[in-house]
Amino acid sequence: HALTRAFFEHAARSGELFARIDCDPALRADPYPAYEELRSLGRLVPGRIVSATTDHALTTALLRHPDVRVGAGLRELPDPLGALARWGTDPWAAGPIDPPSLLATDGVDHVRMRRLVNRAFTARQVRAQEDLVTATAERLLDRIERAGAERTDLVDAYAAQLPVAVIGAILGVPERDHRQLLAWGNSAASLLDPGLRWGRYRRASSAVRAMHRWVTEHVEEKRRHPGDDLLSQLALLDGDGDETQLTDLELRAVALLVLAAGFETTVNLISNAVVLLEGHRAQRERALAEPDLWAGVVEETLRFDPPVQNSLRVVPHDLEVEGVEIAGGTPVLLFLAAANRDPAVFDDPQVFDIARPNANAHLAFSSGAHYCLGAALARAEARIALQMLHERFPDLRVDGSPQRRETRVLRGFERLPVAPGRVA
Ligand code: HEM
Repeated sequence: HALTRAFFEHAARSGELFARIDCDPALRADPYPAYEELRSLGRLVPGRIVSATTDHALTTALLRHPDVRVGAGLRELPDPLGALARWGTDPWAAGPIDPPSLLATDGVDHVRMRRLVNRAFTARQVRAQEDLVTATAERLLDRIERAGAERTDLVDAYAAQLPVAVIGAILGVPERDHRQLLAWGNSAASLLDPGLRWGRYRRASSAVRAMHRWVTEHVEEKRRHPGDDLLSQLALLDGDGDETQLTDLELRAVALLVLAAGFETTVNLISNAVVLLEGHRAQRERALAEPDLWAGVVEETLRFDPPVQNSLRVVPHDLEVEGVEIAGGTPVLLFLAAANRDPAVFDDPQVFDIARPNANAHLAFSSGAHYCLGAALARAEARIALQMLHERFPDLRVDGSPQRRETRVLRGFERLPVAPGRVA
């Protein structure tokens, strides 16, 4: 984190466009015009420290290239960047994208860890989890209906609660801890943003430390009384080194990432979709009339306003990718959200269209070795959540001003006031 902060604070002083995108709060409400400005500068826009791309083909090729590394590759860069990266992180404060997180690990270690976690997120498992998603959505909607309030914050009452309940059940998190974990996850989410102010950075790292302690205690508890959940399965793989095992530090990193990813992303997908549908009421009516289109609502929201706006890769040696020469040691900022509006791939990319035939060519879940492990789960959660919400409250309206989250890499709403209206 210190490293990305250094990158961007330095770059921001040099006035580079993508550093401004990252640091300028004025661009937070709507970064999309700035992405187009970046696109007009070329397929790979070199900066003093990082380069950036908005190009769909180049982004995809970099994400899939076997030699291109995730952030951890930064440790191998020449000094001073390498030195900064090797400076390391306190293992009790390692955030969701710090080593040994899956998101910061390459090669055989990544494959080993990912295989162990993947078991809980296969398409078959997700189909089994759909019943839980439906039952949870039903319960939350009943609660909103019973409360009968004219106005409700949809994030707090629904969009955040559903993913927490589901990932909580998968991992075996007791319900009494959900709120606390949600609060920690919310603070920790800002660690993905460069250029964090000191106060938010301190709050985020103390939330992460608290999550590490929570995971450690729960792993102990699961070892004593294992349940039928992912944390118990992982906790019972003991020892280290072997193909099928995780070190304690890796186990904490995996649990932390799955918790944070489960809590902090799908909530944004659901709330971004509700706001987009509010602005496109005819398409909302169409989805209500043709329920197969709810999957299209989810894909098009992922394309048009994705919860994860960008990622970072390091090119370890001189490479030609998609006809573009990239010098060894270059970190490349991949603007996934901008690639999703690349006119070479999507017709009328600035138009929101739930019936778009190739919406699922988006890169909202990344691509290649680090393709989102929770993609099938997130898609199912959002589809079920949006369909059930709008079917229960067909006149639902955004009522008041939605408030965007302060985070930039994670894009969604902090508060989304809605008037639920009549019950169908
Ligand atoms: C990785 C997006 C939901 C777990 C990723 C990446 C993206 C992403 C872009 C890759 C980042 C990169 O390549 O640098 C999203 C979005 C979601 C979502 C947009 C919801 C709409 C979830 C959920 C889980 C999850 C519900 C719960 C298990 C993970 C994990 C990784 C990951 C574990 C790391 C995979 C690896 O490095 O091998 N996600 N995610 N995600 N996601 Fe998600």
